[in-house]
Amino acid sequence: MNNGAGRLITFEGGDGSGKSTQLRLTAAWLQQRGHEVIITHEPGDTPLGSQIRRLLLEGEYTPVPECELFLFLADRAQHVSEVIMPALDGGVWVLCDRFSDSTMAYQLAGRKLADPDGLAAMLEFAELGVTPDLTLWFDLPVGEALHRIRSRSSMGEESTRLDEEAQSFHELVHAAFAALHQAHERIVRIDASEPVEQVQGQVQTAFDARGVV
Ligand code: TYD
Repeated sequence: MNNGAGRLITFEGGDGSGKSTQLRLTAAWLQQRGHEVIITHEPGDTPLGSQIRRLLLEGEYTPVPECELFLFLADRAQHVSEVIMPALDGGVWVLCDRFSDSTMAYQLAGRKLADPDGLAAMLEFAELGVTPDLTLWFDLPVGEALHRIRSRSSMGEESTRLDEEAQSFHELVHAAFAALHQAHERIVRIDASEPVEQVQGQVQTAFDARGVV
């Protein structure tokens, strides 16, 4: 648990898993229960971070994997310092759309970066001492997730440089999330293939089962 009275809950999963919708529903549910809640996301939820996000995702540049890693970590340190820590210290609950597990899945596994121990130390360095109290992994088969991404972009929603990676990349990311879930008690698997209301039911059950609310 973090020192302040607030809680950090991270929402993780592949692109197109529906976690952002669930994040908003969860925020409303927690507010009804009397908690003060903020919603935030990575990368890009600080003024500096929005510039880093642009460099990372708009596709104008293609960073080498090591550069990509450092940009995500730079964004995280700024975000933790400017947004997450002050909220937790003030007793606010922080619902964060992606955090360090995404870096493990996308950069370490997806980009096949070597040196997992070195990366773990770097992740901790960028977290500035903050760890999630609970992580929800929205698990959706890759084929279905890609189908959702493509139908969103055919309706005019912009896709990012990472959305457009090959299916094999998304398979590596998915397998990495599954392995992280196996390895860490903190990470609860949510079956994201169900309809929205049922998925939200699973989320609420996860909070209750972990005694987080
Ligand atoms: P975004 O448009 O915010 O969408 P979503 O989170 O709903 O998929 O995309 C953020 C992208 O950044 C996403 O493809 C995952 C990627 N990402 C990483 O590769 N590493 C990271 O550490 C983080 C936080 C995100």
